[in-house]
Amino acid sequence: MDFRSDTVTWPTPEMREAAAEAAVGDDVYGEDPTVNELERLAAEMLGKEAGLFVTSGTQGNAVSVLAHTQRGDEIILEARSHIYLNEVGGLAVLGNLMVRPIVGELGWMRPEDIKRAIRADNIHYPRTHLLCVENTHNTAGGIPLTPEQLKADWEIAKEHDLCVHLDGARIFNAAIALEIDVKKLTQYADTVMICLSKGLSAPVGSVVVGRGEFVKKARKYRKMLGGGMRQAGIIAAPGIIALTKMVNRLTEDHETARLLAEGLKKINGIRVLNLVKTNMVNIDFAGIDWTSSDWIEACRKLGWKTRASGTITRLCTHYGIDIEDIKAFIEGLNKLVYSESL
Ligand SMILES: Cc1ncc(COP(=O)(O)O)c(C=O)c1O
Repeated sequence: MDFRSDTVTWPTPEMREAAAEAAVGDDVYGEDPTVNELERLAAEMLGKEAGLFVTSGTQGNAVSVLAHTQRGDEIILEARSHIYLNEVGGLAVLGNLMVRPIVGELGWMRPEDIKRAIRADNIHYPRTHLLCVENTHNTAGGIPLTPEQLKADWEIAKEHDLCVHLDGARIFNAAIALEIDVKKLTQYADTVMICLSKGLSAPVGSVVVGRGEFVKKARKYRKMLGGGMRQAGIIAAPGIIALTKMVNRLTEDHETARLLAEGLKKINGIRVLNLVKTNMVNIDFAGIDWTSSDWIEACRKLGWKTRASGTITRLCTHYGIDIEDIKAFIEGLNKLVYSESL
């Protein structure tokens, strides 16, 4: 059992079968029917013209940002967003881009803050050209941003001729949590990156969607980054299962996260730090006087992999974790916390 991330999910038996039986061709020539179908399906589900299968979320964000911008442009993004913090500085290295981080409220950048950050047309300034939004917002605790929040940011962006890219690594978690069609969220972005390999459980891959011209440009950047794949239908086939069979199942992950948070709150000395709206529970266990190694060791004894930074950790629920697993974990943890020694 593994709480570290929803990226640890294994492909379902149906995905393995689909991979084995996938029709394939050379995708660099546009001839892999399974990849083409995945790209079409993702674009349709997200309400965009075209799609591009990429190797990872990081690559999807990179090709999107590159396709939107020119060297020296400035990008507005949230100060704790994945693109800014966790994508190896690709914005600077690959795009020669400037960044203008804004501290959001639970992951949401307020429109007035965005407005203030947009550069005037002045010879001294870089061009502000792109707004990047993240939904759900990972470091804010898996918070789903609502259509109203996204619309407010979109309107400010469009008033100032900015493009909007949505890092939707977990956009289906947001749609499921808000009980709305995902298009209600993606309508407020020119381009969207979704991950197939997180809660949707595919073994690998992400898809970028947007207008046909944008996807054509992004495809070229994907090739430049070494992401031109050949008989990629083998890995695209599980992605099709992810989109057709695994989206509604995310409610189970939200329910297990809610149960986990409730159980943890009842343990003296553990504080739940986030609003648990999707599949993430952030906690601080400073009150039980354990070090990060104590925490990791206690979880290991209970059969779980976790990680911790100081006394803070994020627990992620996903395919393969059910209600009984959570109950057993909470019961075991209670025993360890209240016993004299670990
Ligand atoms: C919000 C967000 N965006 C992008 C990514 C990058 O995805 P990948 O790990 O496939 O590169 C992640 C990964 O955890 C993420 O949480």
